[in-house]
Amino acid sequence: MNVLVCGGAGYIGSHMVKLLQLQGHSPIVFDNLSTGHEEAVPPELLVLGDLRDKSSLRRVLAEHSFDAVMHFAAKSIVPESVAEPAAYYENNVVGTLNLLEAMREEGIQRFVFSSTAAVYGNPVAGTGSSLIDEQHSLAPLNPYGRSKLQVEQALQDYAQAYGFRSVTFRYFNAAGADPSGDLGESHDPETHLIPNTLKAILGTGPQLKVFGDDYETPDGTCVRDYIHVNDLADAHLRALIHMRENEGAHVFNLGNGLGFSVKEVLNAAAEVTGREVPHEMAPRRAGDAAVLVADSAKAREVLGWAPEFTDVRQIIETAWRWHNDQRF
Ligand code: UFG
Repeated sequence: MNVLVCGGAGYIGSHMVKLLQLQGHSPIVFDNLSTGHEEAVPPELLVLGDLRDKSSLRRVLAEHSFDAVMHFAAKSIVPESVAEPAAYYENNVVGTLNLLEAMREEGIQRFVFSSTAAVYGNPVAGTGSSLIDEQHSLAPLNPYGRSKLQVEQALQDYAQAYGFRSVTFRYFNAAGADPSGDLGESHDPETHLIPNTLKAILGTGPQLKVFGDDYETPDGTCVRDYIHVNDLADAHLRALIHMRENEGAHVFNLGNGLGFSVKEVLNAAAEVTGREVPHEMAPRRAGDAAVLVADSAKAREVLGWAPEFTDVRQIIETAWRWHNDQRF
């Protein structure tokens, strides 16, 4: 299939592009390189452009006959979204609506959307456990989560009114890197736990701050569901097949269903690297939920998705390979 990958120079998008090519599809990347990396994409595939610029969108869609669009391009730093909501609504909501409209003009009807566990807010505050499925109430705590939820709602309306087909994936904690070591996570600033831990070990970043050890969790630190970036990409391929046979707007959680605390991640990183993690305790980070673990039974049953990297140590191992010899 011919697939437009918006945000294909970013962390998850670049892994997607590699998988699409491996599977014999023809991706084209549309990216403004604001957070993505030119080096992450084969140069012949890259079209520079911005979702806020309707004319560049129309041009790229008119020049190729795409069967589907995958949309990874977004601003995604929670505290930044609180400080600068306008940029989040403009990029993540207005930019996506521009894309949907340009697709409608070209008669492209299949769309895979990257959403987030942040749409659930703080689901288990005070209760301590339980997996989150797609039926769980939606109560985002910040503009980032709200911007993603607004697009999810628009996709439901587009399905009703225009017969537009879509699959929305609510990622839990994307992590790891392509096992080849060619691609990986490279954000500036880096806010995520695993890259910050590995950078602290390597001395390429400051010592790790553990944000809060007084949560209602077994060891007091936050629990998350880490899911390998290539497992996320695999689900997207399955979405293309799903949309061939299914109308409507469909939503799936993507996570392993296993929770690891911050302390457990630090221990796993020490085990994988054979080095201690330089770290210190710090106050809670605003907006962090205590526990976020996915029930992904729907993706398994409906899409036949089965994550390959189920042990957090395997995930850290691939990230370690990347950070040890980081290319960009
Ligand atoms: N953490 C630290 N120190 C760090 C970085 C993170 O202790 O230097 C902790 C956080 O407090 C949190 C856990 O590690 O408890 C994971 O934090 P990440 O920043 O790696 O990931 P988040 O769970 O905050 O973010 C993810 C997605 C977001 C999404 C959010 C929803 O990356 O896109 O879940 O809560 F919005």
